Amino acid sequence: MSFDSQQFRRALGRFATGVSVITANPPGHTPFGVTVNSFSSLSLTPPLVLWSLQKNSDTMDAFAIATGYCVNVLAEDQQELSGRFARKGNHDLADAEFTVGESGLPVLNGVLASFECEMDARHDGGDHVILVGRVVAMRAGEPGRPLLYFDGGYRQLA
Ligand SMILES: Cc1cc2nc3c(=O)[nH]c(=O)nc-3n(C[C@H](O)[C@H](O)[C@H](O)COP(=O)(O)O)c2cc1C
Repeated sequence: MSFDSQQFRRALGRFATGVSVITANPPGHTPFGVTVNSFSSLSLTPPLVLWSLQKNSDTMDAFAIATGYCVNVLAEDQQELSGRFARKGNHDLADAEFTVGESGLPVLNGVLASFECEMDARHDGGDHVILVGRVVAMRAGEPGRPLLYFDGGYRQLA
């Protein structure tokens, strides 16, 4: 390899993304969330999405048994939420910050869109696991402005 992981990370950071919080409530776990920018659409028919989770995440055990998850697309005023669910230690959701969606998954309040998914497949992806979800319910709330991530920092649409 003619580059190190820092250079790789820096170059990847040039790809602008949205920011999502993946929530779940598998048996034996209270509702929790983790911040990701690896969310991507995958297929229209069937309706599939994907994201990837670091294998060393404290939430790995919970996602290993989860039969579903919800992708919550953050609005530009939800940066604090993103920061909180990106910190190690406490990923718990407060009762007031979510409702229970059609499929029983936690859906965060105030998000731009949510996709409730059944776990469709798990694929190995180096130091990450790729979690493919089949969308079984979705909500696209009021139109709003997204929280963005670019070059190592949060951004907003100009
Ligand atoms: C903008 C942003 C995007 C992130 N994207 C991902 C991601 O796609 N996959 C992932 O596993 N972690 C991602 N993280 C890191 C996790 O949110 C964070 O490392 C993790 O929740 C804290 O470690 P823990 O899961 O062991 O508690 C991202 C963090 C930030 C701030």
